[in-house]
Amino acid sequence: MPLENPQRFTVTAALIYANGPIHIGHLAGCYLPADIYVRYLRSTGRDVAFISGTDEHGVPITIRAKKEGMTPQQVVDKYYTQIKDSFEQFGISFDIYSRTSNPVHHETSQQFFTTLYDKGYFDEEVTEQYFDEVANQFLADRYIVGTCPVCANPNAYGDQCERCGTALSPNELIEPHSTLSGSKPVKRQTKNWNLPLDRMQPDIEAYVNSHTEWKTNVFGQCQSWLKEGLRPRAMTRDLDWGIKVPLPDADGKVLYVWFDAPIGYISMTKEWAAEQGRDWELYWKDQNTKLVHFIGKDNIVFHCIIFPAMLMAEGSLILADNVPANEFMNLEGDKISTSRNWAVWLHEYLDDLPGKQDVLRYVLTANAPETKDSEFTWKDFQTRNNSELVAILGNFVNRAVVLTHKFNGGVVPGTSVSDDETQLALDHALLDELAQYPDRIGQAIEQYRFREALGLLLDVARLGNKYFAETEPWKVAKTDPQRANTVLNRALQIAANLAILCEPFLPFTAEKLRAQLNLMASPDRKLDWTNAGRADLLVEGTQLAPAELLFAKLEDDFIQLQIDKLNKTKAMNAIDNAGAPISGAPTDGTPEALEQAAETTIPAPKDTITYDDFVKLDIRIGTITEAERVPKSDKLLKLRVDDGMGGRQILSGIAKHFTPEELIGQQVTFLANLAPRKMMGQESQGMILMAEDADGSLALLPPHKAVWNGGTVS
Ligand code: MF3
Ligand code: ZN
Repeated sequence: MPLENPQRFTVTAALIYANGPIHIGHLAGCYLPADIYVRYLRSTGRDVAFISGTDEHGVPITIRAKKEGMTPQQVVDKYYTQIKDSFEQFGISFDIYSRTSNPVHHETSQQFFTTLYDKGYFDEEVTEQYFDEVANQFLADRYIVGTCPVCANPNAYGDQCERCGTALSPNELIEPHSTLSGSKPVKRQTKNWNLPLDRMQPDIEAYVNSHTEWKTNVFGQCQSWLKEGLRPRAMTRDLDWGIKVPLPDADGKVLYVWFDAPIGYISMTKEWAAEQGRDWELYWKDQNTKLVHFIGKDNIVFHCIIFPAMLMAEGSLILADNVPANEFMNLEGDKISTSRNWAVWLHEYLDDLPGKQDVLRYVLTANAPETKDSEFTWKDFQTRNNSELVAILGNFVNRAVVLTHKFNGGVVPGTSVSDDETQLALDHALLDELAQYPDRIGQAIEQYRFREALGLLLDVARLGNKYFAETEPWKVAKTDPQRANTVLNRALQIAANLAILCEPFLPFTAEKLRAQLNLMASPDRKLDWTNAGRADLLVEGTQLAPAELLFAKLEDDFIQLQIDKLNKTKAMNAIDNAGAPISGAPTDGTPEALEQAAETTIPAPKDTITYDDFVKLDIRIGTITEAERVPKSDKLLKLRVDDGMGGRQILSGIAKHFTPEELIGQQVTFLANLAPRKMMGQESQGMILMAEDADGSLALLPPHKAVWNGGTVS
């Protein structure tokens, strides 16, 4: 059951692995909605602890360390600092942003483990685990990859399939191999400690089923796991990076990262409370505290099933009241991917578009993947900036301020009661409607419908624009200055309300707006949600600051720079895919870095061959007569080539470079005597030859004049 009208909130945002920078997908999926929620709660006067930090253990950290040629400690130090800094600049208002490497966290999680151990919760189990004989190491979680038994994804990890979201154990993977050495692992015996989720299923089921109000994507995922039947899960791992298992017979073993990480929410609350001189227990033990976890969809099972099970076993702590997980955000038609550098990185955005935090906050919230995956494009970013932020919100505020400067010396005018019935009715309706928005927006936020809430916020500005259109104060000022002043006062009250109402979504704009309106709180007029909706927020006689635009129009060439940057990435990825040697370390994404990377990727010369080797190749000219995409493949095209010998079918991995239409009718050079092979169940009889350009784009090789089909090349 959801808590009714709680006054204290513990709000957490996922402890992201400190193994890479933050991108827009993280923001849209988790951190922005959490920040909006928390800023709103604070504005309503509720007591909130907003907790987050980095997850610094587990295989993802050690894998990254290996890739970057650093120690795990260096990796987490580097990314903790970078991530914390960019969140801060972006206005994510954590009460604490800490890290799971802190001593208080080590103690808290070891204590937690010991409590469960002493209560007899763990089943000791000796099992055969995969062991990499080349790397001389047990293969936990992400050190092992294989085919997902549920959805057949060939790149499922030992702990989870990222395609279908199923939580896995390495033993369930089909055809597993080690990500350390690529070798086929062998089984070795090892002892671990299991949390008996199978025996706990009835309690977990009762908990989940008492929360039918959870978002359907979250509730649905929980139900499907429960239906499958929960399995015991080891809470320890054979690794050397992590928190030592606090038992005498556990040498070389650490706590499972998904055991320690969520406990991080508790240890970070302790840390914060100690700094603030507060009692952490109020935030984790009081049944009237509402605990809410903001996460992305790949974390659902851990927050809705495994962590609650741990909390139940521990016995003294509250369970989450809600887990409003979002789906994923895609970028320009493709899944965001760190390894392919396919992302808009927050630290780069902050550098490239300084002072535009709120534009990104706006666009990501307006497109938030609340119920299904969504999409970020730079064109949409531009459109939303220009036709919503500039044309509706910025324009309204600007008109209110500019007109006040023009007709009343920049001083907030007073109101007078009109004897015109139409005017009276109009103003009455306006103030009435204005008064309803704070509740409507607030309710949408409390129900985690942030897109809707943001839409309502913009409606407040629309209301103001409509009022201007209906009252035309710039005309009325000449004939009826009193009426014009009343209209301006009302418009400025709407602007003042916007300063409060936009704060959760657009905190930088809220600040600018307060400064421009010279909006000050007084004891009977706190500038918070409880007073929003009032028409006397801005006091008569207040001197406004000079008008200043809240948002600036974004021109095409500015947006094009960002699109070009992504196109470069795409070209780089094409080179990588074509099998050229790659420089290894990911670039920092700047054009210079990408260019440099491109230079280092010129394929090395191949070994010398003899003339006899060469004449073995049967290279010929043909004409492409048919071309179509191969279903379920984003790379392959199926081509029919007229080879002068009755034609043949060739499959070519060029779908990302050419459309089928542009290939039909083209003469090409192809290798005719390559042994036939099957791809995606279809036979390919030969290979189209192609030249690769420096940017990774491909060019066909037609003969310099039309040649008969089947003509040989030598
Ligand atoms: N580190 C995990 C990730 O990035 C999230 C951990 S959330 C916590 O996906 F609950 F465990 F803290
Ligand atoms: Zn799967």
